[in-house]
Amino acid sequence: MKRIGILTGGGDAPGLNAVIRAVVHTAMNEFDAEVIGLRNGFDGLLEPEHLINLSHTEVRGILSHGGTILGAANRGNPFSRKEIVNGKETIVDMSDKALQNIEKLKLDSLIVIGGDGTLTISKALYDRGAPIVGVPKTIDNDMGGTDITFGFDTAMHTATEALDKLHTTAESHSRAMILELMGRNAGWIALGAGIAGGADAILIPEIAYDLDHVIQKFEERALNGSHFNIVSLAEGAYPIGGTPQYQSKEGTYPGRLGGIGNTIANDLNVNSNINSRCTILGHLQRGGTPTPYDRWLASLYGAGATHLAMAGAYGYMVNITGRDIGSISLADAVSQTPKLVNPNGDLVKAVRGMGITFGDE
Ligand code: F6P
Repeated sequence: MKRIGILTGGGDAPGLNAVIRAVVHTAMNEFDAEVIGLRNGFDGLLEPEHLINLSHTEVRGILSHGGTILGAANRGNPFSRKEIVNGKETIVDMSDKALQNIEKLKLDSLIVIGGDGTLTISKALYDRGAPIVGVPKTIDNDMGGTDITFGFDTAMHTATEALDKLHTTAESHSRAMILELMGRNAGWIALGAGIAGGADAILIPEIAYDLDHVIQKFEERALNGSHFNIVSLAEGAYPIGGTPQYQSKEGTYPGRLGGIGNTIANDLNVNSNINSRCTILGHLQRGGTPTPYDRWLASLYGAGATHLAMAGAYGYMVNITGRDIGSISLADAVSQTPKLVNPNGDLVKAVRGMGITFGDE
């Protein structure tokens, strides 16, 4: 009987449980294989006392649940793990132990569900002999080698609902309402929600903005009788000649993005006649029940990853191109990351054509 390990790394995203469920169902039904869950990302590989046998019982009812039943961890990189050595915090390479534990646990394969950080670590472990198969996840949709990652659709849905709600209060008070959205250095969530939520300005990291252009756009709207404005803003957006804004230096280097929304709102309040407020949607974008699309994608990713694992296609990641589930080597996927919005692409052109400003002209 083949033994498949599975772990979820990095930040959570709606749809993780749907992947886990699909792996367990496919492994048990189609291959008569067993599945072992490792808790808290790569920590579970370094401290394997936190194992959980996954059968139909453990995954019953989790398809529609956000989060991950396995837990996730951002600090568990086996190549540079923070350990207390002689009372001092020290960075230690524990990749040997991770590889040994895969053998000790008699895992024929290890399915790793993660974003760019987790899958980069996975590629490095694979290069050292680990039988890893990847599954791409992130609400940011910035993972290369696949058209879409699960979690993105749910995040876009939550962001669009927020924009819809901001519309009514913006209109009542004749204000510019700014919604600051996640996405790291990619503007996919802000762009997607901005289109779906009828934003007047979409500010993303791929297109640096000049606030004067945004003000000009709002003044034109006022002349046409629209005295309110909606801005869909990516947390990584920045002005021409500027740099992204960080709320703290903690977390993955160079830190946690955030705060640009309030900076813009203050600028508008002080330097223009436009009354503005900022809402930061934050981790609401990572929570809640996955949309049907994300459940669909996550389930197919789980089934696809199990097929790769059983075929011995280690060093590969399941992906989607158009509507087709396939695979790509982790090396190629990681080298195509981050996948950013093409500032000169058809999508951006179409948005400009609808009269939405990116703040650059
Ligand atoms: O990568 C997913 C993401 O939610 C980003 O959009 C955001 O910048 C970051 O993670 C937040 O990370 P944390 O969970 O450490 O606050």
